[in-house]
Amino acid sequence: MSLAEKYPQEIQKIFAKYPPEQKRSAVMPLLYLAQREEGFITKGAMEEIAGMLGIKVTEVAEIVGFYTLYHDEKAGKYRMQVCTDLPCALRGADKFIEELCGNLGVKVGETTEDGLVTVEAVMCLAACDKAPMLQTQGSDGINYHENMTVDKTLELIEALKKSVA
Ligand code: FES
Repeated sequence: MSLAEKYPQEIQKIFAKYPPEQKRSAVMPLLYLAQREEGFITKGAMEEIAGMLGIKVTEVAEIVGFYTLYHDEKAGKYRMQVCTDLPCALRGADKFIEELCGNLGVKVGETTEDGLVTVEAVMCLAACDKAPMLQTQGSDGINYHENMTVDKTLELIEALKKSVA
């Protein structure tokens, strides 16, 4: 089913916020809408959004690729995005993500066997002095976790596991 068929009212509301000559600005909320259901944006949804806005699919795909909030691949119920950018790396983020992945039995970019968590390395999340830090993205939205240790992160994962059980 297309986005237009699934979310006619939401799409109407989004477009109502922009003057017709600036409708391409609606790309961000439309992508957010498209991602809501499956946790990632399908090729079909990108094509549909490009069609609605009169822009190229490659332009939509570039936006999806640029922002850590958007995803073009299926993942676990939660994305655990660890900042490994330079300032965080200097505060131990690389070692942190390596140990975390070791504990979970995954590599960066992979999902735990139970489908709960996908560990991702991302660029600056604007909490550079609080590394190691990560954000989780899931059905409860986006949450920041700062000054993390591997043990604290494993506890967090246990809590997430209970919340979806
Ligand atoms: S460099 Fe990691 S939050 Fe800024």
